[in-house]
Amino acid sequence: MARSALLNVMVQAALKAGRRLARDFGELENLQVSRKGPGDFVSNADLQAEKTLTDELRRARPNFGFLREESGEEEGADKSHRWIIDPLDGTTNFLHGIPVFAISIALEHEGRIVAGVVYNPATDDLYTAERGRGAFHNDRRMRVAARDDIHDCVIATGVPHLGRGKHKPYLGQLEKVMGEVAGIRRMGAASIDLAYVASGRFDGYWEEFLSPWDIAAGILLVREAGGFATDINGGDKMFDTGSIVAGNEMICQRLRKSLKSA
Ligand code: IPD
Ligand code: CA
Ligand code: CA
Repeated sequence: MARSALLNVMVQAALKAGRRLARDFGELENLQVSRKGPGDFVSNADLQAEKTLTDELRRARPNFGFLREESGEEEGADKSHRWIIDPLDGTTNFLHGIPVFAISIALEHEGRIVAGVVYNPATDDLYTAERGRGAFHNDRRMRVAARDDIHDCVIATGVPHLGRGKHKPYLGQLEKVMGEVAGIRRMGAASIDLAYVASGRFDGYWEEFLSPWDIAAGILLVREAGGFATDINGGDKMFDTGSIVAGNEMICQRLRKSLKSA
């Protein structure tokens, strides 16, 4: 599988930041952790990973802008390109010693995601995609699952928690979907949920109250694996609405219908 120079830069940055994250994950007791809001933590692992990613990406493409979870937005001299970064997606898992977390890096060009990397350093799983060039799990091409009967499907979701999202309407959605599917999963890292949809492990996924950095890379993984990723209304406003529904065309549609009727 030949990677473009740009994708290579992204992969190298993720691997470098990942080495440090994996080390920190093995020594959780030494981490400094602070609270950003109710149920929302940041550790020096998140901050260090974001710094490494910023340094590496800036060195390779000095003019590109940034949208980062921890240090926010920074306009570049080149206004058409920006990196969208979550340095540690799944912080709660990380802090609890659960090896389900990832670095997520996307490159946006004129408002369109053109490259994405999701890397879990605890398991060394690397998911990559470039627009028009397919999606890969390590070196293997990914395809979304072909199941078309919702009753056979395993569907991932994100459950709102303390300080996050509206809990009552979510319970309505869950009640509706859980009665229609073979299984529900909650991984705790949106980027990994989307990577699992892309690789065909999950048949579908929905969540609300997300930020662009949670999903930017994962959306491209799903689309390049032949799947669909939309907002909850079937549109393309995932970043504005914070909502996402993903799967193959049929399951994505079917999930949206269930969520609408909840
Ligand atoms: C979180 C994870 C989680 C989702 C949360 C996100 P973070 O990101 O993606 O799965 O349910 O809403 O904020 O805070 O761990 O980077
Ligand atoms: Ca996140
Ligand atoms: Ca994060």
